[in-house]
Amino acid sequence: MITIAIAKGRMEDEALALLALAGVRLDDGARNSRRLAITDASGKYRFVFVKPADVPVYVEHGIADCGVVGRDVLLESQADLLLPLDLRIARCRIVVAAVDAEIMTRSLGMLRVATKYSHIAATHFGARGIPVEIIQLSGSVELAPALGLADLIVDLVETGRTLRENGLTVVEEIAESTGRLVVNRASYQLKAEAVTELVQALETAMNGGLAV
Ligand code: PRP
Repeated sequence: MITIAIAKGRMEDEALALLALAGVRLDDGARNSRRLAITDASGKYRFVFVKPADVPVYVEHGIADCGVVGRDVLLESQADLLLPLDLRIARCRIVVAAVDAEIMTRSLGMLRVATKYSHIAATHFGARGIPVEIIQLSGSVELAPALGLADLIVDLVETGRTLRENGLTVVEEIAESTGRLVVNRASYQLKAEAVTELVQALETAMNGGLAV
């Protein structure tokens, strides 16, 4: 049996829809329950539903053989995982945003950056030689500039609605993010056949075919 950790939230539905196209299906009863570990109809796959940031943790430790999670989370976590597939789901951007789009050119002092992505933010500003103070938050990051906690944020943008409705504009783009299939290094060797079957079924499904 293969265990797949699924990031709960923004990409969960798209991930399960793609897996279903690949022939890995959860029955609706199990899907609608509050159980966090569910076996698929074939009994070949077990799903665990965890917070996005925990997907790399479960997969790196081998508790899950595979995971479906955004590139944003992977860039932030730096976990040692195999990345066999860009699933092309949940496409979004990691951006720097502010109320004042010119703030980076105007400000001479240290800028305060609020974010859930402190590693990505530190790397980005560090590479550009811009001194910043990183303020780590766990959500609702778009509030920080309006409340005076930060000058800038680093966050995900999908439709742009959250930024707009909080009076923020994109200052610069850091990276694109899509959902990825990640695989534990040992599982890739020890369960090679099953992992390869899953990867190939997902590739077929992504290319418009029906794997099963
Ligand atoms: C993300 C991100 C933004 C929002 C952007 O939050 O942090 O708040 O989505 O989407 P939009 O551009 O379509 O408005 P998410 O829902 O992933 O979770 P969070 O609130 O826990 O950060």
